[in-house]
Formats: sequence, structure tokens, C-alpha cells
Amino acid sequence: MSKILVTGGAGFIGSTLVDKLIAEGHGVVVIDDLSSGKKDYVNPKATLYEVDICSSKVEKIFKKEKFDFVYHLAAQIDVRVSVERPEYDNKINVLGGLNIIQNAHLNKVKKFIMASTGGAIYGEAEEIPTSEAAPTYPVSPYGIHKLTLEKYLNYYYQVYGLNYTVLRFSNVYGPRQFKGGEAGVIAIFIDNAVKGLESFQYGDGLQTRDFVYVDDVVNGLFLALNIDCPSEINIAYGIETSILGLREEISKAIDAPLKIKEMPAKAGEQRRSCLSYMRAKEVLNWEPQVSLEEGIKRTIAWAQKANKN
Ligand SMILES: NC(=O)c1ccc[n+]([C@@H]2O[C@H](COP(=O)([O-])OP(=O)(O)OC[C@H]3O[C@@H](n4cnc5c(N)ncnc54)[C@H](O)[C@@H]3O)[C@@H](O)[C@H]2O)c1
Repeated sequence: MSKILVTGGAGFIGSTLVDKLIAEGHGVVVIDDLSSGKKDYVNPKATLYEVDICSSKVEKIFKKEKFDFVYHLAAQIDVRVSVERPEYDNKINVLGGLNIIQNAHLNKVKKFIMASTGGAIYGEAEEIPTSEAAPTYPVSPYGIHKLTLEKYLNYYYQVYGLNYTVLRFSNVYGPRQFKGGEAGVIAIFIDNAVKGLESFQYGDGLQTRDFVYVDDVVNGLFLALNIDCPSEINIAYGIETSILGLREEISKAIDAPLKIKEMPAKAGEQRRSCLSYMRAKEVLNWEPQVSLEEGIKRTIAWAQKANKN
């Protein structure tokens, strides 16, 4: 049994990871300020510190808890917020992350695993599906800050030997997803559909995304614990789905047409996004297991239940 810190462990992906780590017999501590996460999502067997990752309290928590491993998932995840308030995004996603890395280094943790983004780091890529070798041209402060923290991790590895792996997710979806995030188109469409409400579609709907189910992402995070790969690994479904295609999948699963209001395209929105998971297959022996059809069904079932409560 290892002692593991999960920052952002009250959030969508983090809380699902905490459940998995506890089911595998590990001791888990969560640092989360509950800005978008929920206390109810935190497994009762985990210890929750309701603390900002930028806070000096982080140092005391590391000293007291003596972690073997760190998963860093806490972040400001809304791309639009990062565009409106880049300095705020920088504070949480770079300085907050750096606070966690520095403490992990000073307390000699065995490994640091960071949740990063493929969707926002490669920009409008020439190579589709996009591999980790593709150039990185982020088109948002969010992408720039995620990339910056990746570079810091690599620096701590080179200079201090802090072992790490970065997982770059495509668009993650599934139960517990926060509907306020930019990446949450499936969460927004499904939540509105089960409540009989209208959703907005921006642009012609032909823009594509790569939707990967949360349990597959959590499996990838779990497998990353014991590998030696101090670099970046894409975690993705590897298939492009257009927003129009997504609407069709959801309305098929819910057996009713979605109420959609078509809005003008958002300036600067990426046209295509799809990642290659070949490195994950090679290094982690990981492949997505849940089809988009099945993942949508599971997410609808969860949203319908949550809507009744
Ligand atoms: N959801 C996606 O499609 C996606 C795609 C790529 C990468 N990611 C990354 O995965 C990670 C988890 O994302 P998620 O989708 O679960 O989002 P989420 O918003 O559900 O989870 C983030 C968690 O971090 C916490 N948090 C935010 N700021 C904090 C702070 N200053 N101090 C402490 N806690 C703080 C929030 O309360 C929340 O519980 C993030 O790092 C995100 O950038 C997500």
C-alpha cells in the first residue's frame, strides 16, 4: 500500500481516480479547494484537505502526510476564463502547480504524475491524429500554462531527478463532469437533454473533437504509477467526432431529438482535434475500452439519476 496525494481529488476525473486508488488498496489524501469539485464526490476513505494549491499550507500537509506518489489534477480548467483572466489562470495552473512540484521534490516523492491536455497544447495540428512529437502551439493561456508546468516537471527531473510522467488527455467525458468547463460539451448537452432544456451549438457543428471516457482516463493514470517514462503520453479515444455527430449519438441514446440553438462560431475555436494514443499503447499497454456509444449511455444514466435526486 502506498500513500498517494491527489490534488483536485474532489473533481470529475480526480474523484474517479481516488475511488480507483482506494479500491486498489492505497491510502489517499486529497487537496482540493472545492472551487468546482464537490465534497460528496470524495471517497469517505480518503482524507480531504480543503486547501488552495497556491497556499503555504501545502508545505505542512506534505511534511505531515509523507506521500509516496503525487497525482496533480487540480487546475483552473475553463479555457474561456483563461482567455479573460490569463494572470489568474497562470496563478493556479503554473504557480499553484509549481508549489505542488517543489514540495514533491523537497519531500522526495517516488513519482509525480501530471494531468495535462492534448486538446489545448497542439493547437491546429497538421498531423491528425496528433502524436506527442507534434509541435506545440497552444492558442490559449490555459494551453500555455499547462505546457509551462510540463516544462517545469522536466526541469525538476533533469536537475533533481524527480521522476514523472505527463498524461495529455483529449476531451474527457462521463459521470460527475462539471458543466461549467469549456471541455464539457457532452456534459452540457446531456444535462440539458435530461432536463428538457435547450443547448447552444457554436458554429456549423462540423468542428471535431476526440472524446475519451473517464474510466479509460483513470486506467491510464493508474497504469502510469509504475512505469518509467519521464515524458508526455497522450490518452485519447483516437477517433474524431463532429459536434453534429455527437448530437446524433446523444439523441439516439436518449431516444429524442436534442433542443439545439445554433449560434455564431466562437473566435479562435479549434477546427479539428484528435490525438494518437500509440505511445500509451506501447508504454502503458493502454487502449480505450469504452466506445463513445457506451460511454454516452452510461453518462445519460448517471445524469438521469442525478436529475431525480
Ligand atoms: N475534462 C477534460 O476534458 C480534461 C482534458 C484535458 C485535461 N484535463 C485536466 O484534468 C484535470 C482534472 O480536470 P477535471 O475535468 O476533472 O476538472 P474539475 O474542475 O472537475 O477538477 C478540478 C479540481 O481542481 C480543484 N481546484 C481548482 N483550483 C484549485 C485550487 N486553486 N486549489 C485546489 N483545488 C483546486 C477543483 O475544485 C476541482 O475539484 C485538470 O488538470 C484538467 O486540466 C481535463
